Amino acid sequence: MTGAIIEISQLTKQFKSKEVVHKADLKIVKGEIFGLIGQNGAGKSTLLKMIGGLMYPSSGEIHLFDHAVGENHAYFERMGLLIEDPGLFPHYSAYENLDLMAISYGLKDRSKHINELLKLVGLDGSNKTKVKNYSMGMKQRLGIAIALMGSPDVLILDEPINGLDPQGISEVRKLILELNKTGMTIIISSHILEELSKVATKYAILHHGEIIEINSKEELLLKCEVRIEVEVDKASLAIPILEEHLNINNYKVISDRTLYVYDTHVENHQITKVLVENGVSVQSIMKHKQSLEQYFLKRTRAEGDSHD
Ligand SMILES: Nc1ncnc2c1ncn2[C@@H]1O[C@H](COP(=O)(O)OP(=O)(O)OP(=O)(O)O)[C@@H](O)[C@H]1O
Ligand SMILES: [Mg+2]
Repeated sequence: MTGAIIEISQLTKQFKSKEVVHKADLKIVKGEIFGLIGQNGAGKSTLLKMIGGLMYPSSGEIHLFDHAVGENHAYFERMGLLIEDPGLFPHYSAYENLDLMAISYGLKDRSKHINELLKLVGLDGSNKTKVKNYSMGMKQRLGIAIALMGSPDVLILDEPINGLDPQGISEVRKLILELNKTGMTIIISSHILEELSKVATKYAILHHGEIIEINSKEELLLKCEVRIEVEVDKASLAIPILEEHLNINNYKVISDRTLYVYDTHVENHQITKVLVENGVSVQSIMKHKQSLEQYFLKRTRAEGDSHD
């Protein structure tokens, strides 16, 4: 093992003839917020259910806290899960929902624990409102409180911001960051990379059941390359001028009128100036940064489009 508190190797899940997760390898280190990004049907929930002990893998291995899980399922008890549906009782209050859970866990000192959890997720323990009248954001925070019952070491949140409005998203995001500050390791899935990027420190892209890429936050941002897009009347005339006067070597000719410059030592105005001074007219010049979403789409398209 390598300091990872979760390590999966060659994890595979097959439903009849359909392989939904294929030979997934990954390591998650304590204190990380590990983001799992994938389109609908990519296999995110299936992978998380296997890591959380809700579903048996067809093959492959799971190591939790430095131990091979094998037949010993006790390690799964150290994981708090919110996967797909929080499974709330709609006609009960938040407190009552948590109390039912606490009873099933056999927790002592239930009231203290429940009130602490409610406070942590920003809900009011004395509020008698039935959960069916809660906003989506409140329900989701209650779902997180349920996942936190039993003081897990790892929290697994499957698409926790799905269906939330901006206010709800911001509340859940804040809560995730706060929990992480206490040292909790968090695994969170999403199909929106941009959103994930606001919390995650590491990213795995899951596509058609395969992990096609794992990046640290820094690596991901680097990949969302910065470039200057230059549109001129004739690209072939512009190139020698840029090479000679600005020492630009890192560029790509996109068409006979468009150039992408990747050199970061130059500014737009320097390019415009030198081209115009040397008789090349510049139609437009723009600094471009690829969004995370564009990168994610590009990356998954490169692996092949949806199989359905
Ligand atoms: N119990 C099951 N039996 C058969 N097929 C299943 C089962 N659970 C999931 N699948 C299939 O496995 C694939 C991956 O499903 P999964 O729910 O893991 O994807 P996901 O990435 O979580 O998708 P979403 O973003 O829609 O939640 C889908 O094609 C789904 O239909
Ligand atoms: Mg899912």
